[in-house]
Amino acid sequence: MGKATDDLRHEHEVILSVLDIADDIMNSAKSEEIKLKYCNEVLYFLSTFTDKCHHGKEDAYLFPTLVLKGVPDNDGVIAILMHEHVLGRTMVQNMREDIEKKDLVSLQEHFGEYSIFVRRHLHKENNVLFPLSDKLLKQEDQDELIEDYEIHEESIVGHGIHDQIIKMIDTWLIEFEIKA
Ligand SMILES: [Fe+2]
Ligand SMILES: [Fe+2]
Repeated sequence: MGKATDDLRHEHEVILSVLDIADDIMNSAKSEEIKLKYCNEVLYFLSTFTDKCHHGKEDAYLFPTLVLKGVPDNDGVIAILMHEHVLGRTMVQNMREDIEKKDLVSLQEHFGEYSIFVRRHLHKENNVLFPLSDKLLKQEDQDELIEDYEIHEESIVGHGIHDQIIKMIDTWLIEFEIKA
């Protein structure tokens, strides 16, 4: 059935490409109004796809499965990554407040910090968490996780939301003439 970790690796690629697009929006949007509009959509992506969908799969399924395999949850890699998910949520909330206040200077600063923070988080998972998971999980564990992720996408994220988000990213690519 494949590997559940590959699903998460693929989502990392999507998140990284959106961070690149968001950098471009921050630097090349022609007016404050346009910047606010797209940043609002980027925040929707970050809270729905990155947090609810992706971090949700890690928090609710991958980490508990690894704990059952003997990886400690109170210190070490799982504790660090779970804490970073919480920090990321707070950072997105700060950016949401910047948008409400139309404070683009603060938004740019917060986005820059968030972008570096998330890139480091994903790097850590790609290089430490996923290799560890692939070593500890048997094929049947990976199969079970894939099923859990499908249920998570339908019940927690919502039916059709994933496709809607991919369409939104395509629109950004066209409107900002960014090569996919
Ligand atoms: Fe994560
Ligand atoms: Fe991740």
